Amino acid sequence: MKPSIRPRRVRALVSVLAAAAAVAGTALLVPGSAQAASTLGAQAAQSGRYFGTAVAAGKLGDSTYSTILDREFNMITPENEMKWDTTEPSRGSFNFGPADQIVNHALAHGQRMRGHTLVWHNQLPGWVSGISDANTLRSVMDNHITTEMTHFKGKIYAWDVVNEAFADGSTQHRSSVFQNVLGNGFIEEAFRTARAADPNAKLCYNDYNIENWSDAKTQGVYAMVKDFKSRGVPIDCVGFQSHFGSGGPPASFQTTLSNFAALGVDVQLTELDIAQAPSTAYSNTVKACVNVARCAGITVWGIRDSDSWRTGENPLLFDANGNKKAAYSAVLSALAGGVPYGGGGTSTPTPTPTPTPTPPGSGGCSVKYTIASQWTGGFGANITVTNLGDPVSSWTLTWSFGAGQQVTQAWNATVTQSGSNVTARNVDYNGSIPANGSTSFGFNGSWNGSNPAPSNFALNGTACTTA
Ligand code: G3I
Repeated sequence: MKPSIRPRRVRALVSVLAAAAAVAGTALLVPGSAQAASTLGAQAAQSGRYFGTAVAAGKLGDSTYSTILDREFNMITPENEMKWDTTEPSRGSFNFGPADQIVNHALAHGQRMRGHTLVWHNQLPGWVSGISDANTLRSVMDNHITTEMTHFKGKIYAWDVVNEAFADGSTQHRSSVFQNVLGNGFIEEAFRTARAADPNAKLCYNDYNIENWSDAKTQGVYAMVKDFKSRGVPIDCVGFQSHFGSGGPPASFQTTLSNFAALGVDVQLTELDIAQAPSTAYSNTVKACVNVARCAGITVWGIRDSDSWRTGENPLLFDANGNKKAAYSAVLSALAGGVPYGGGGTSTPTPTPTPTPTPPGSGGCSVKYTIASQWTGGFGANITVTNLGDPVSSWTLTWSFGAGQQVTQAWNATVTQSGSNVTARNVDYNGSIPANGSTSFGFNGSWNGSNPAPSNFALNGTACTTA
């Protein structure tokens, strides 16, 4: 199992490497202090991330297209060529030709590959959607996953193992032949089969309309990933397709990414395009990713507007002639900010031991507690804690509920409760709070009768005042 690399360690490693590079007289690009890069892929790489695009095999011969592809992008997703209707058009008869073309291009140009997609209700040949016997469908699905992953073994960074399995506006799976014949367990079956086929590829669940934290569909996928992680079902990443309207991402997008990341998976923006490509909308989207340590990279769904599936919406970074649009510069600048990527490997991470907290100095701490929303029996609350003492490298915030409230779910912190006493601990990306710095996290809880603010807040054992 590969150990996970955490941001603090990355920063420490970066300084060591920088020192070594200085001795050796070579340049090393350090996030935050590096010279700005002039291409999307190179700029993303400065923080350990990738910048990718969807590619159509039939366009590789177009020199405008392939020139931009090889100059700007270091990750490739085949737009259609790895889908079931192309790869197994009839049972047991596999066709990897078009996808091989793209993979060979990537290998020749130092680009990595995302595999898209193994199990999806769309672009599914009729011979699969017509199967009504569970044993047959299970064996067909497992064979498809195993054969396709084995063919590309060692060449794929991450696979979209299951695509778009949840219904819009709901926490439940959508109707599909897989759902209807195999039941809820088909997703787990697919991921277990995928891990056995290529243990070194990251395994992703990929979907759209899961970017807004409060949406039922987002909550449904979150619950699935949480359940998978708790039961050891292999899952390494969640793909947020990010097909946005001209307003860009929802305000909660970064929160959504952080909350999923806190479950112990990488998050990736997998099919980004934005109607009319406003610079601010693109910039906000990129910032949401680079501000989250476990956001591994961004893929746009096509190169030029003329390559987009969203005909007439001009949602991409290059115009039909291959010229950079305004949004291109916005993306390049936004990629230069944020925090370094600090993702995990492909194994189910073991829980990290709780670090010994450093008590804050005599300055103490201050807590702001806000109920963001409340409904019958439930509520959502946010806490911002400000460290008024010395810097801390890990933190524990404790408090007491006075009216029987119970935390049911938390984000940006790991929360446990015993009776009325609650303990919130930092997650791996937000342990450090500098002197006079703050960190925020949130939780949902249940209440009954009344819901007063908690009391006895303490940071690393030192009592806090409330703001
Ligand atoms: O290959 C046939 C060609 O032989 C035929 O002449 C032509 C006539 O229309 O159709 C061609 O197939 C088209 C295929 O793209 C390849 O160009 C299909 O009609 C067309 O429906 C298909 O669209 C793709 C779409 O997925 C299908 O669901 C888009 O290119 C592709 O960008 C899009 O990608 C999806 C992601 O996979 C999943 N998330 C949503 C995203 C956007 O819809």
